[in-house]
Amino acid sequence: MHAHTNHRDKRIIPLRHKSHNILVLIVTIFSLCMPSLSHGKQETAGKILVLYYSNTGNTRAVCDALREKLGADIVEIKDLKNNPGKLTMKTKLEKPLVMDTEIEPKTVDMSTYSSVIVGSPIWMGGLSPAIRKFAALNTFAKKKVVIVTTTNASEKDELKEKNKAIVRAAKGDVVGYYQVMAMEEKNGTKVERNKDQIIEDARKLLPGIQKAFQ
Ligand SMILES: Cc1cc2nc3c(=O)[nH]c(=O)nc-3n(C[C@H](O)[C@H](O)[C@H](O)COP(=O)(O)O)c2cc1C
Repeated sequence: MHAHTNHRDKRIIPLRHKSHNILVLIVTIFSLCMPSLSHGKQETAGKILVLYYSNTGNTRAVCDALREKLGADIVEIKDLKNNPGKLTMKTKLEKPLVMDTEIEPKTVDMSTYSSVIVGSPIWMGGLSPAIRKFAALNTFAKKKVVIVTTTNASEKDELKEKNKAIVRAAKGDVVGYYQVMAMEEKNGTKVERNKDQIIEDARKLLPGIQKAFQ
C-alpha cells in the first residue's frame, strides 16, 4: 500500500510541474502577443476619440472608416435645430441656418483621450454649426486635434484657417486638416461620389493622421 502510494506520488509530481510549465508558457505567449496586437491597431500614443456631425451621411462614413482602422471611440454630435437635407451645387437652402444651434450631447468627457478627430461637413464655407457649438461648449486642452471635413468643392486656405481657429479657440492643438470630396467633376459636370469612394479616400488619410498623432 505504502509502496503503491509512493509510486503514484512519483508520477503526480512531474505532471504538476508539466502543467505549471504549460501555464507559464501560455501566459508568456499572451503577454508577448498583446502589446504587438494593440500596437498594430493603434500606432499612436494614447487613445483617440472621433467626434463628428453629419447631416446626410458623408462625414459619418468617413469617421466610421477612421474609427474602425484606428481602433478609436466615436461620438456623434446631433444638431437639434438644423436639418437642411442634401444641398448640391444647384439646390438652394430652404430655411436659413441656425448658427447658434443646440446640440446633443452638449459635452463629452474627453479626459481619457490624447487625440481627437473632429469630423464635419462644410456649410457655407465653414464648419457646421453643431461642431462650432461643440467647440464653444467644450475644451480640447492638451489634445492633438485633426480636422476632417467633407465638402462639395475644394476649400480655400483662408477658410481652412478660420476653421482651425475655431478649434484653437477651444484650446485644441491642431495637428492636421484633411478634406474628403463629396462631389467630383465628370465630363465637365459635378457629380456626387458614392460612399465607397468616400470611404476609400478616408482610408488614404490614415498614415497622415497616425503620424500627426504620434
Ligand atoms: C447647408 C449646407 C451648406 C453647404 N455649404 C457648402 C459649401 O459652402 N461648400 C461646399 O463645398 N459644400 C457645401 N455643402 C455640401 C456639404 O459640405 C457636403 O455635401 C458634405 O459632404 C455633407 O456632409 P454630410 O453628408 O456628412 O452631412 C453644404 C451642404 C449643406 C447642407
